[in-house]
Amino acid sequence: MRMSAGGRRRKKRRDDALPKPFAAISLSMPADAHWDVKKEDEERKSDLEIDRETRAQHLLGVSMAKDPVRVLVTGAAGQIGYALVPMIARGVMLGPDQPVILHMLDIPPAAEALNGVRMELVDAAFPLLKGVVATTDAVEACTGVNIAVMVGGFPRKEGMERKDVMSKNVSIYKSQASALEAYAAPNCKVLVVANPANTNALILKEFAPSIPAKNITCLTRLDHNRALGQISERLNVQVSDVKNAIIWGNHSSTQYPDVSHATVKTPSGEKPVRQLVSDDDWLKGEFITTVQQRGAAIIKARKLSSALSAASSACDHIRDWVLGTPEGTWVSMGVYSDGSYNVPAGLIYSFPVTCNAGEWTIVQGLSIDEFSRKKLDATAEELSEEKALAYSCLS
Ligand SMILES: NC(=O)c1ccc[n+]([C@@H]2O[C@H](COP(=O)([O-])OP(=O)(O)OC[C@H]3O[C@@H](n4cnc5c(N)ncnc54)[C@H](O)[C@@H]3O)[C@@H](O)[C@H]2O)c1
Repeated sequence: MRMSAGGRRRKKRRDDALPKPFAAISLSMPADAHWDVKKEDEERKSDLEIDRETRAQHLLGVSMAKDPVRVLVTGAAGQIGYALVPMIARGVMLGPDQPVILHMLDIPPAAEALNGVRMELVDAAFPLLKGVVATTDAVEACTGVNIAVMVGGFPRKEGMERKDVMSKNVSIYKSQASALEAYAAPNCKVLVVANPANTNALILKEFAPSIPAKNITCLTRLDHNRALGQISERLNVQVSDVKNAIIWGNHSSTQYPDVSHATVKTPSGEKPVRQLVSDDDWLKGEFITTVQQRGAAIIKARKLSSALSAASSACDHIRDWVLGTPEGTWVSMGVYSDGSYNVPAGLIYSFPVTCNAGEWTIVQGLSIDEFSRKKLDATAEELSEEKALAYSCLS
């Protein structure tokens, strides 16, 4: 992959601006050289010979297997951030032998707390952690990052409607999109966690036009995992034996958790969840509402929104995206709609996807019955309304 002269100049600006605390950790070759060397290597090896982690690193633009990957976490002084950064530093996100450099961004009122998180990361002496940038400057935070996990935003509090927080988040995501566009590493992968997650991701996409739309996603993996958890509890089976649930649409109470195609591994082979549960009323009623309203239930119980499960799911999302989904398994990701399943194009909508070599693909050809169709359309409609509201906040 060759870069244009403009691209090379932007890349040089980014390299020159890489945060200085990491002078000891240098990505010693220019990015173009990385690509050329890897290309020659690949010509010599067959696809199968290139192990998937090395390939994933290549796709992230990191030169060699053990070069550190720079991971940005915005809102890092918040409660999801506090749960997430140690997971990343322990290898939960990118693998147990992948060094990382954490870039943590928060706003000035949270600077002291952010410094506290930085101190704890130093104190934890994580072997994989090769550096920490803790800053309130978006440019410094975004410079050279390979992965950006956007957790920072104005969170919904108990009793608050998501629309109340739209305009604050639109302006945050517009400005952070510009910082990523100008300073992140080429092919940076972005995961938006902060609510309204789908629409924040859409705003980020609009204001970072040079980042490929395929690189901008939002988190619905927590909802996906919640669906697996509910089926596991209901059937009294291990959650790791349940797979292929789907979250369609918005990360909101209109999302449609769908287990029409989900299966459970049993001693006598894989069986459909529907057959094992054998209670369509529950699947079409209580199961759906429990998953849809799980976030509110956690807030009611903890007086705080979900943090450890959100952080863990963010790691699952990036890990599967970068390293691939297991054969025969799909996961849910909020991605830019191409019109699949008659979902309007141009929304960030949660679909079932498989991932391979750093690319997600929407699972095609699943049957959608009348009940599901209505649910898919209802959540799409909400997203179209959110999109219109977000755009009205821009003017
Ligand atoms: N998609 C999901 O599945 C999911 C699940 C749970 C929570 N969430 C959302 O994640 C977000 C974070 O949740 P939390 O519990 O960690 O909230 P929190 O309030 O504890 O933390 C948010 C952090 O973001 C920071 N912040 C605010 N504006 C910022 C900006 N412009 N740049 C950088 N940082 C900024 C705040 O200072 C704070 O430290 C919320 O929007 C929440 O609704 C999403």
